[in-house]
Amino acid sequence: MPLTRRQFLASTAALALSPKTSFAATSPVIEATTGHVQLIDAEFGDYPQTEIWGYNGSVPGPLLRFKQGDTLKQELLNSLPSPTAIHWHGIRLPNAMDGVPGMTQNAVPTGARFHYEFPLKDAGTYWYHSHNQSTEQVARGLYGVVVVDENNAPDVDHDIVVVLDDWRLSDDAQVTDDFGAMHDWTHAGRLGNYIHAQLSEQPDSVPENARLRLRFVNVATDRVITVSVQGGDGKLIARDGMPLETPEPIDAMSFGPAERADILIDTKANEANAVQIVLHEGDTGYLLKEIPIAGSQPAREAIRPLPANPMPRLTDLTDALTVPLHMEGGAMGGLREATYEGETLDMRSLVDKGQVWAFNGQAGLSETPLVEVPQGQIVRIPMQNDTSFPHAMHLHGTHFQEVLPDGSFGPLKDTLLMLPRESREIAFIAGAPGKWLMHCHMLSHAAAGMRTWIKVV
Ligand code: C2O
Ligand code: CU
Repeated sequence: MPLTRRQFLASTAALALSPKTSFAATSPVIEATTGHVQLIDAEFGDYPQTEIWGYNGSVPGPLLRFKQGDTLKQELLNSLPSPTAIHWHGIRLPNAMDGVPGMTQNAVPTGARFHYEFPLKDAGTYWYHSHNQSTEQVARGLYGVVVVDENNAPDVDHDIVVVLDDWRLSDDAQVTDDFGAMHDWTHAGRLGNYIHAQLSEQPDSVPENARLRLRFVNVATDRVITVSVQGGDGKLIARDGMPLETPEPIDAMSFGPAERADILIDTKANEANAVQIVLHEGDTGYLLKEIPIAGSQPAREAIRPLPANPMPRLTDLTDALTVPLHMEGGAMGGLREATYEGETLDMRSLVDKGQVWAFNGQAGLSETPLVEVPQGQIVRIPMQNDTSFPHAMHLHGTHFQEVLPDGSFGPLKDTLLMLPRESREIAFIAGAPGKWLMHCHMLSHAAAGMRTWIKVV
């Protein structure tokens, strides 16, 4: 694998931490506001600061860190020029706290506040982001990470959050305001030209045999990001916040938008003498971040699974209700017509309305849910991606498990990356009552029609 350092605007580059791009500690008030950050590493040239929208004016927003069983209490203060709301991605919570304007709360107007409060039942790596005009607001930087520590967290030398993002920047390093460009919406979404990894902690060096926990979060609006970690031996221990029953060997990892993974690695001296986070595109690897390895310490005991969360897992599918989901539309998709706001529209009219993707012939949300079920009901959703693009299918409110072809269940996930023309099935146990969204987390696709909802009573 050839390893290169990228040049900004040739395509992407590594990012230097600057004082304003922070993972500042938990604060009780999160102000959604504008800010200026030095996004681009000095070695790539003398670029001006980038104007962003961020929580507390930084990207990512403050790292919110709790212990399992704690209650999250955060006040959102909106100092942006547009209304906003915070969605707590992947966290099991009461419906009223889910942060979806028009469904679970009203968008918070400029100058107003909203109080979020809920218990954190499950440990793991989660994130928060705007769920209002999210193709613009998330692309401008309105996201942050929530870490809920296990009561017996594994002993590690460093526990580092790795935020993967993809910015679309102009020649003078400003976020371009081409949100909602129809070509993006009908294709792979608003892809950027500056992919980077930002670390919550950058040790000067680590000894050989240091154990690192790396928590990857893909916050990009639309881009699937593939990375590997060089300079250590490790295991995948959690996906989308939920512990794997058996830690798995790690290879290159592909993250759809919103997907997370926790890995544990024990550092091992290599040619570069560094732990390296490498971005893969085709056959080329690009260095995103590195931590030098210097000195040595005794090896640790073998990696063990994380303690299980109380989130229930599926045991069997007897009495399950099956609701198929047919995903259609987009460029080269063959969608001819779909229902939008109660009307049947042909493709031309759909394009005029910016609604070019559909679930079961419905573009955007309908008055009626995909399915209405009592709490505790097991729901199976066989999904058929009848489009020419990948989609990151996300369910609010509870995690699901994939039903694998041999009938066994995959790990608990809240987002599943589906490749073009692929069919995959998920199943879940209906959780708290309320209205729960299900959508593609390529935010351009969600805005352009790939949304539905599930009602739990
Ligand atoms: Cu990250 Cu509708 O969510
Ligand atoms: Cu999609």
